[in-house]
Amino acid sequence: MQSVKVGVLGLGTVGSGTVNVLSRNLQEITGRAGRDIEITRAAVRDLASKTACDTSNIAVTDNAMDIVNDPEIQIIVELIGGTGIAFELVSKAIENGKHVVTANKALIALHGNELFAKAQEKGVTIAFEAAVAGGIPIIKAMREGLAANRIEWLAGIINGTGNFILTEMRDKERDFSDVLEEAQALGYAEADPTFDVEGIDAAHKLTIMASIAFGIPLQFDKAFTEGISLISQEDVKYAGELGYRIKHLGISKKTDKGIELRVHPTLIPHRRLIANVDGVMNAVLIQADAVGPTLYYGAGAGSDATASAVVADIIDIVRALTTDPENRVPHLAFQPDALTDTPILPISEVVTSYYLRVHTEDKPGVLADITRILAEQGISIEAILQKEPEVAGGIIPVIMLTQEIVEKNMDAAITQIEALQSVNDSVMRIRIESLG
Ligand code: NDP
Ligand code: HSE
Repeated sequence: MQSVKVGVLGLGTVGSGTVNVLSRNLQEITGRAGRDIEITRAAVRDLASKTACDTSNIAVTDNAMDIVNDPEIQIIVELIGGTGIAFELVSKAIENGKHVVTANKALIALHGNELFAKAQEKGVTIAFEAAVAGGIPIIKAMREGLAANRIEWLAGIINGTGNFILTEMRDKERDFSDVLEEAQALGYAEADPTFDVEGIDAAHKLTIMASIAFGIPLQFDKAFTEGISLISQEDVKYAGELGYRIKHLGISKKTDKGIELRVHPTLIPHRRLIANVDGVMNAVLIQADAVGPTLYYGAGAGSDATASAVVADIIDIVRALTTDPENRVPHLAFQPDALTDTPILPISEVVTSYYLRVHTEDKPGVLADITRILAEQGISIEAILQKEPEVAGGIIPVIMLTQEIVEKNMDAAITQIEALQSVNDSVMRIRIESLG
């Protein structure tokens, strides 16, 4: 039988890893796929750029569209990133009847609905395992392994760069920008690292997981996103004193009113397994009705780890090449006509508990003012910690943990606290999840 010809678009961190893993493990991969798989062509932007893989048997071009239009190529592996040229190339590949593998979460989160519909029409597959949580086979686990369950909620550390930064800040008291530079040098960060730091990359991934979990179309524009750039050493320390760790979580929950879709720094009890996921590692915790909680852990970024997911997708496609397109696993787990329009809840309607840190003047009555405002909004304080000023009469940090309250009431309370004369800084608010 003829080998399956693959064209790889992009030979950067993930593209090079894909070439390396495929050639290193060729014998096992062929045994699993049942066919020889050959990367015959690859594209880069600049032919002078160095690649971290051997391209001696691959025809490399700087014209990616030429590969997409090559009738010999059956599978296009898009590893360029972004939603510009990548969208054009993937759309054209589908139009040309080619299967697509991509690690591009931005592309899937923003254009997945349209691309999946086109792929369905053409009878081809778009596989995107590497787009969420790097090397962890989370798409396969949710779409197939948990297919019998009603998923109740999921919470994940789904950005390796952000988790690496938070871990280094906590363990080594390193500076934020210094750690970010290291993550970039290691190939973990996105082309625009604000995507990592501000939670946009995590929101792309969460959008994809929520659709698969709850059978809804992809709705990235409705995801609430808050980054980690305002997290200070001070908050990391106080959270630790109170028995919590700060993690940047993507959370999606099905409630009676709708579906929560939110990415933000979160206090998690330090005894939870997920609170101890450090460095570039990712983890996703899923609560489902039949199986209960399951936890998936592994490398969330990096060359070979991500390539592991990309190559697994290539193998899956090769195995299914001769099957009837109607009987393949649906892109978003549910058949397209079974997707529902359950609304996504705005963050103002989400109910959580909170960590609050207020910097106030050391004056009588300040604490009373703050607790009165909270009480007026129906907010109960669970724990309170007041630190001595570093100099007499100086600023004191007051740290509070609250019970659950709807976000709009907390917003109102924070606005009033910040308006107090004795409060001289913005209130730091971090949501708490017990994940029990
Ligand atoms: P890199 O920046 O390392 O590589 C991008 C590659 O695309 C380079 O080879 C670049 O070529 C090439 N390229 C850019 N523009 C074009 C073009 N117009 N035509 C042809 N080739 C082009 O990115 P990564 O490998 O890190 O990321 C690739 C994708 O994988 C992204 O979608 C990313 O989000 C995703 N991803 C990345 C992970 C990681 O750990 N890095 C993990 C999971 C997903 P040149 O070198 O000549 O500029
Ligand atoms: N920039 C991403 C991260 C790559 O750090 O998690 C993996 O998707």
